[in-house]
Parts: sequence; structure tokens; C-alpha cells
Amino acid sequence: MLALTHTPVLVNETIEALAVQPGGRYIDCTLGGGGHAAAILEYSSPGGQLLGIDADSETIRIAQKRLEAYRDSILIIHDNFANLQAICYKYDFYPVHGILFDLGLSSFQLNGDPRGFSFQHEAVLDMRLNPDQELTAEDIVNQLPETELADLIRTYGEEGQSRRIARSIVKERPIRTTVQLARTIEGAVHGKRGRIHPATRTFQALRIAVNHELENINAALRQALNLLGYGGRLVVISYHSLEDRIVKQFMHQESKDCICPPGLPRCTCGHTASLRLVRKKVITPSQEEVELNPRSRSAKLRAAERITNQIINPDEYSKTAERLGSPTQIEAGGWRRPAVLEKLRAEFAASWSR
Ligand SMILES: C[S@@+](CC[C@H](N)C(=O)[O-])C[C@H]1O[C@@H](n2cnc3c(N)ncnc32)[C@H](O)[C@@H]1O
Repeated sequence: MLALTHTPVLVNETIEALAVQPGGRYIDCTLGGGGHAAAILEYSSPGGQLLGIDADSETIRIAQKRLEAYRDSILIIHDNFANLQAICYKYDFYPVHGILFDLGLSSFQLNGDPRGFSFQHEAVLDMRLNPDQELTAEDIVNQLPETELADLIRTYGEEGQSRRIARSIVKERPIRTTVQLARTIEGAVHGKRGRIHPATRTFQALRIAVNHELENINAALRQALNLLGYGGRLVVISYHSLEDRIVKQFMHQESKDCICPPGLPRCTCGHTASLRLVRKKVITPSQEEVELNPRSRSAKLRAAERITNQIINPDEYSKTAERLGSPTQIEAGGWRRPAVLEKLRAEFAASWSR
């Protein structure tokens, strides 16, 4: 059974950090249940516009229902935010006043989703946001050699017991369901229970690996920067330290004029700041919010403002977006992207990193 609601995290702080204004133009890269989107649309009315993206077609359907009242002000796209720039050029939706990423998964996905994102509900070990992706969590759990599995669990789950867990998984194979995997992990770390369930970090690691979560965030942040107009705000809410580290490093690096290694006699990087940190410190939920919505307890919000104006050659990206054809399908059952388009996507990614 799917959870019936998803309570958005740090909503007031998000609206404030985005500096939402009437008539503004915003992108919600992680539409989810549409909670933040509804608040942005409310505060940007009259005249506000929102582009909402989500990689999960089930979630898109939920958001469409929830945001029905704003149908004239919102464009909902089923795609991965790693394609952010292509989507915005395709729909001519740039520059924008603000871009939001509320990373991770929604309560709909974590509570009882049949793709097995959570160890608390019996399900198959799938974990793919997009059913067209090839690799499932079951493939990783049952096919990866023990040492590689241990490395994956340590790297993406920051799990100190990764070797012990990988050994037990390999012994127990084949593992087909979330509950079977959770029991195997519980057995492996018997007597070593901490504050969180022993399977939490392993499930996080599998989800990150299956969906290339860290690569997608890295790619999307840089694209987001190019889409912001002067004074536009980038706001990211993350839920674990791997995500937060990427966001923190990106914002800190882009808010510096020189990123040369320390100790060089003079600057050789030629880097100039394109962001200003809105707050030096990370924003976290109040005690009251955590009590009302325990899922918010690990949330960290970072915000930065664009302080430069040059948009990377728009013609180049419009052309790429044209060549990509239709990268997005609203309400479609999945991505039907021909293989040749994958090649174009790679070229596209390489062209803006040059
Ligand atoms: C925490 S939820 C967002 C909740 C939303 N802010 C709300 O108020 O309802 C994160 C959403 O991001 C989506 N998502 C995760 N990775 C994505 C990606 N690479 N591209 C697009 N959407 C993604 C998930 O499917 C999920 O719906």
C-alpha cells in the first residue's frame, strides 16, 4: 500500500531561501507529491510559473492530481533532473528566479512501494526509479563479488560493518526480497545495533548505486547554475552526508574567485565566483518540525544566489535539445529513449563541461 501523503520538509525555509516572488519563474527538480511546488505556486501568484520534474512516473501522477488547481501555471515533466538543461532549453524555460532540489525519496516511495526502497515492507528488490534502467538492486545483491559488494556498501552507505554484511549476503544468496535482505543484515551485525536499523545504510547504498544518484546530483547542480538569472536562487535539501557533501563543495567552490590548491604563489585557475552563499550555515528543521514529521530529522538545506549573468551559449543548447527530440514524456509509462539519443546526451554533457 502506498502512503497517502508526503509532508514536505522545511517548507517556509525553502520559500524564504528561494526568495519566491509574485510573477517569478521556478523549477522544482524533485516534484514528488507536489508539496513544495504548491507552496512555490502559492507564493509566486499572481503570474508565477513552475516547471516540475520527477523521474518516477507514479509520482508524476500523484503530483498532477495534487496540483490540478494550478494547471495553468505549471508544466510537469517526467524525466531525470540530470537532463535539466536540455529540458529547460526544449521548453524555453530559462533564465529562472529559483531552482529547488529536495533530494531522496518521498513517503509514497518509502512506505510500501512495490519496488522495495524500504526494508520495512516486504517487496522485491528492484529500487529503480525508472523501469527502463537495466540494473536492479537484486542484480547487485546476487551478482556482485563479495569484495565489490562490501566496497559499494561502505562507499554509498558509509557502513562500518560492510565486510561482515557482504559476507553474510553472499552466504545467503539468492536473496529476493527486502525482508530477506534486512534479516540477513540483522544477522550479520547481531549485537551491534545502533540508533538506526542495521539495514538502513545498506538499503541507502543499493538505492544510490541503482539510480546513479550522486552522479545525477553532480551533473544537475552545474546545469542549474547556468539556468539561473542574475540574483536567482539555488536551494538544495539533502538527507545524508554523501549528498550534502556534494552540495556543500559545489556551492563553496562556486562562491570563490580562486580555487587553486593552497600554497601556490599566484592564482593559475582563472576561476571566478558565480554564486554567493545565502547563509554560511546549513539550515535544519526545528525540534517542532522533527516531532511532527520524523522524516525531516536528517534534512539539511543549503542556498546560494547567482551573482553573474552570463548564460552559456543558448544556441548551442537549443540545438542539442532539438536533436534530442522528445526527451520527456508527460504521463508516459517510462522513458523510450532510443540508444542513439544516449550518445547525444553524452555529447551534450561533455559540451557544457568544456
Ligand atoms: C523527497 S521527494 C520530493 C518531495 C517534494 N518536494 C514534495 O514536497 O512532495 C524526492 C523526489 O525526487 C525524485 N527524484 C529522485 N531522483 C531524481 C532524479 N534524478 N531526477 C528526477 N527526480 C528524481 C523522486 O522520485 C521523489 O519523488
